[in-house]
Amino acid sequence: MKRGFVFIGKGGVGKTTCSASLALSLAEKGRTLIASLDPAHNLGDVYGVELSDRPVEIAHNLYAIEVDTDLLTKRYLKRTVGRIKEMYSYLKVLNLDRYVDSLKYSPGIEEYSILEGLTELISMDHEFIVLDMPPTGLTVKVLTLPYTALIWIEKLMDLRNEILSRRRTIEEIAGRKCVIINGKEIAIPSDEKDDPVMRELKEKKKKMELVRGFLAEKCSLILVANPEPLSLFEGERAVNALKNFRLSVTGIIINKFVQENRITEKLERLGKAVRVPMFDQMPHGIEGLKKIGEILEELQEGMGE
Ligand SMILES: Nc1ncnc2c1ncn2[C@@H]1O[C@H](COP(=O)(O)OP(=O)(O)O)[C@@H](O)[C@H]1O
Ligand SMILES: [Mg+2]
Repeated sequence: MKRGFVFIGKGGVGKTTCSASLALSLAEKGRTLIASLDPAHNLGDVYGVELSDRPVEIAHNLYAIEVDTDLLTKRYLKRTVGRIKEMYSYLKVLNLDRYVDSLKYSPGIEEYSILEGLTELISMDHEFIVLDMPPTGLTVKVLTLPYTALIWIEKLMDLRNEILSRRRTIEEIAGRKCVIINGKEIAIPSDEKDDPVMRELKEKKKKMELVRGFLAEKCSLILVANPEPLSLFEGERAVNALKNFRLSVTGIIINKFVQENRITEKLERLGKAVRVPMFDQMPHGIEGLKKIGEILEELQEGMGE
């Protein structure tokens, strides 16, 4: 059974440091994959090893990857455009190539490709997955995307059904409509099972349900925050935004803890909290991170392993 740990929080609070440490401690229990999905990667720096967009074993049972989100965007767009061309091969006027370049800048593409990356990671064979996410705003969008996308997909499926039903009505009156492409006669689909658009929508739906299920049932969301006001405010906003989608943040890491104050109290009210002290030196390297990993073990206990 796969279990995921998703690290969220403001930039610079210590997401990478803490997720790298937790992954080390999980690797003692089972095959673990840690993935950086933050386009500004620093996972390799924190471990002190060179990483790439393929998982490499950096310690016994511990695999690490820095997902190349730019490459994912390019691959995603290429695949999507290819599929649209295939589906609408009978529309000679459709010139998609012109749009490919501008599509990469369209809103939502970054979130979508990070989610694609996440879907690929879930399908890999590991007992534990640790996700080092981009800063809060983008992460909240990525994590809630399966919910919003499913609403859209279902609406589009209804609409497509309507179109197909009208096509069938027309067929009854005027017969089957065909077009000739490259000398081949192609029938315009009017039945759900022959329709490539419907097939694509169903496939997308299945994929989104899979990630949504994984995030909601198999993942622990962990907020990393520093005991300072801005980090607390951003953390609180993220926790509440995710709550609207029934995604609950269960673990709180108060990182760079120095002494108790009102902020730490407030943070501790957000979930099961642990404190990681402020170290004199940047915690890094497998040995250096182990002591943080030990502190974080407390966090795993309440996480329904
Ligand atoms: N407990 C700690 N004590 C001292 N420095 C820390 C601690 N945790 C993180 N840091 C330092 O803070 C900086 C940001 O940490 P990082 O893990 O890269 O944050 P994020 O991934 O959230 O942007 C790094 O220089 C890191 O070494
Ligand atoms: Mg980071």
